[in-house]
Amino acid sequence: MNILVTGAAGFIGANLIKEIFRRFDCPAVVGIDNMNDYYDPRLKEARLEELLSYEDFIFIKGNIADKELIDRVFNQYEPQIVVNMAAQAGVRYSIINPDAYIEANLIGFYNILEACRHSYERYQGGVNHLVFASSSSVYGANKKVPYSTDDKVDNPVSLYAATKMSNELMARAYSKLYDIPTTGLRFFTVYGPAGRPDMAYFEFTDKLLKGEKIQIFNYGNCQRDFTYIDDIVEGVARVMQKAPQRSVGEDGLPLPPYAIYNIGNSSPENLLDFVAILQEELVRAEVLPADYDFESHKELVPMQPGDVPVTFADTSALERDFGFKPSTSLRKGLRAFVEWYKDFYLEK
Ligand SMILES: NC(=O)c1ccc[n+]([C@@H]2O[C@H](COP(=O)([O-])OP(=O)(O)OC[C@H]3O[C@@H](n4cnc5c(N)ncnc54)[C@H](O)[C@@H]3O)[C@@H](O)[C@H]2O)c1
Repeated sequence: MNILVTGAAGFIGANLIKEIFRRFDCPAVVGIDNMNDYYDPRLKEARLEELLSYEDFIFIKGNIADKELIDRVFNQYEPQIVVNMAAQAGVRYSIINPDAYIEANLIGFYNILEACRHSYERYQGGVNHLVFASSSSVYGANKKVPYSTDDKVDNPVSLYAATKMSNELMARAYSKLYDIPTTGLRFFTVYGPAGRPDMAYFEFTDKLLKGEKIQIFNYGNCQRDFTYIDDIVEGVARVMQKAPQRSVGEDGLPLPPYAIYNIGNSSPENLLDFVAILQEELVRAEVLPADYDFESHKELVPMQPGDVPVTFADTSALERDFGFKPSTSLRKGLRAFVEWYKDFYLEK
């Protein structure tokens, strides 16, 4: 069984590949990543270096928006499970550089769908499960919490969210038309060691260390459902192994073997509490001195365009179908992040 993971050098992709090698029966894992410099590429290189130590890992540096490349990879490696993690992530950057989102998230994702569709003509069995990363941002300006996958989602507040919603619609149509077993996963604010420097926990740490001020949006009146990377990877690994069943409807045509799940902690934290825990952990790990003047390095500012005041996952469907619910506490997760940060940036 070959598995293809796009966005292999990314935060979630790299952690997932390590988990695949830990729990699956020695598959070959093919990873694609274009190693772009949206954030410090040294982090991607470090993640990749770790992956390259696995004998059965094959890395292809390339862009998923390159249709010929994607077709070549499918023809050569004939993946049975495809996990699409590659995307231009980030809500705020989608206001500055929308082109990157259209290229990776729409054209790139379309190429993956097309390759899955043609896999049935090209090799025995074809793709038996496509899993793709969606996002809690599809819930946009919805007021009802917790966010359930049964809720209507037609109210995106950023282009990033709109591309993720489009992915879900495109995937559902392909699943229906070509009977592709497909699962979309809406991730909620994923954090952890070797995570993404554009996200608050990482950016705040960088800034506090440089003596700069951190900006806390919506005057601190935001809540986020922070989800630890190990919980995300556990959820994805379980989902990968159980594809939605193919079946036929009353009209004799296939019903889409398609499902969507939230993967989130179901326990939103106030941003100010989150900052307080981060501060305590930075002091505990001696990354910052005990007498660091945090108050003078904090600035409460208004809400940013594209942001939402709260994210909160209803994970009952994940619990029902996979017997799993993320549960790592923010304290434990931030402690692991801070320890990694110290080791990676300050001690090496
Ligand atoms: N981290 C989160 O909090 C979060 C939340 C919701 C959804 N997601 C989604 O999960 C997925 C993984 O996110 P992540 O946090 O690991 O982000 P990441 O940026 O660390 O990983 C994405 C990887 O994809 C690669 N990539 C981007 N465009 C590409 C292209 N056109 N071709 C090939 N490779 C490309 C990047 O170089 C990067 O290594 C993304 O789809 C993201 O939108 C993440």
